[in-house]
Amino acid sequence: MKHINTLYIVWNDGNTLGIPIIDEQHRGIISTINSLYYSIQTGHGHEVTGPTIAMLEQYINVHFKTEEALLLEAGYPAVEEHIALHKKLVDKTTELSIIAGDDTGPEMLLKFLRGWWLSHINKEDRKYAPFLK
Ligand SMILES: [Fe+2]
Repeated sequence: MKHINTLYIVWNDGNTLGIPIIDEQHRGIISTINSLYYSIQTGHGHEVTGPTIAMLEQYINVHFKTEEALLLEAGYPAVEEHIALHKKLVDKTTELSIIAGDDTGPEMLLKFLRGWWLSHINKEDRKYAPFLK
């Protein structure tokens, strides 16, 4: 049984890349996903899910622009592949946000976001970290 005071994603130091602006934005994204989870758990899914997803989409946009600018500036060799991953996530988030109003939509969206972000931060973003330091 889930408790409403439980965080959906617990941020830990292992998720930190050591690049302050990126780490800060990653925490912001995780925090927004946790807020979305909280709203759904407390029965405010209907009124809050739409605006939260819209906010998350904006935040993700800002974050990807920040990351891509830093990668281009640093001459990261795999920058095109990394940008392609970002583009896929934006498309998938938009796709899932459309079905978020369905009964199983919010759970599906949350699961996807948690899986994608934790694996992206800890695998894909970790690859570029040495280039930005
Ligand atoms: Fe990234």
